[in-house]
Amino acid sequence: MLVLVTLTDSVEPVFALVFSVVPELLSSPFNHSIMKRAREKGLLEVNLVNLRDHTTYARAQVDDYQFGGGAGMLMMCEPLAKAIEELSKDRTYDEIIFLTPDGELFNQKMANSLSLKENLLLICGHYKGIDQRVIDTFVTKEISIGDYVLTGGETAAIVLIDSITRLLPGVLGDSESALTDSFQTDSGFDAPQYTRPSEFRGMKVPEILLSGNHRKVSDWKMETGKAKFKKVKKKK
Ligand code: 6GU
Repeated sequence: MLVLVTLTDSVEPVFALVFSVVPELLSSPFNHSIMKRAREKGLLEVNLVNLRDHTTYARAQVDDYQFGGGAGMLMMCEPLAKAIEELSKDRTYDEIIFLTPDGELFNQKMANSLSLKENLLLICGHYKGIDQRVIDTFVTKEISIGDYVLTGGETAAIVLIDSITRLLPGVLGDSESALTDSFQTDSGFDAPQYTRPSEFRGMKVPEILLSGNHRKVSDWKMETGKAKFKKVKKKK
C-alpha cells in the first residue's frame, strides 16, 4: 500500500494521494474534526488510490512469496514501482517514506521537519513488507511509529499525517496551541489542565490557576510540565 500526502503552508491547494489495498482503513480519519477542517480550508489534501489498480498481474495480485523462504508474503516490485513512477509525473515528492517497524523512530522533531515539506509520498507496507529493491530505488526515509508491530502501515500513516497536519499554519484555531503542546517546549509535557467547576468531588483546582497572575500561572505550568516529564520518563 502506498500513501501520497501533499502538505503546504501556502494558499496553494494541497494535494495528497493515498494508495492502498485497503483504502477504507484510511478514509475516516481525514473526514472528521481537525483533519477534515484542514482539508476543507485547502491546507491538506489526502487522496486514496488502490494499489491493486496499478498491478498488471492476474486477479489484481500485489504480493508474492519471499525468496529464500520465510513466513508471510511480500509486496511485489512492479505495482509499487509503476504507481510511484506514474504519480511522480504529476509532482515531485520531497520525501518518499516507507512506514515500517524497522524504520527510524518517529517523534515531534520529525513531524516538525516533515510539516515544512510540500509533497510527501507515504508507502504503507502490508503483508510482510515490500521488496528491498523498491526501497533502494525510491524510498528516502523509513519511519516507525513505535517499538511494536502493526498489521500494516496504514495506522502509522494516519499518525504521521495527523501530527504533521496540526503543525500547518492556519489548521489550529489558536495559533499558539501547537507551540505549547507537549514535546514542543523544553519542559517536555503539558501541565495538568482543569476546567469548571473549580471543585469536583472534593478535589480543588490548584489555587494558582484561579489567581489571575499570568506570570505565576505560566511558571507553574512550566514547572509541573517538567515534573511530569521527569516522572514519566524515569519509569522507562
Ligand atoms: Cl510504520 N508499520 C508497521 N507495520 N508496524 C509498525 C510501524 C509501522 N511502526 C511501528 N510498528
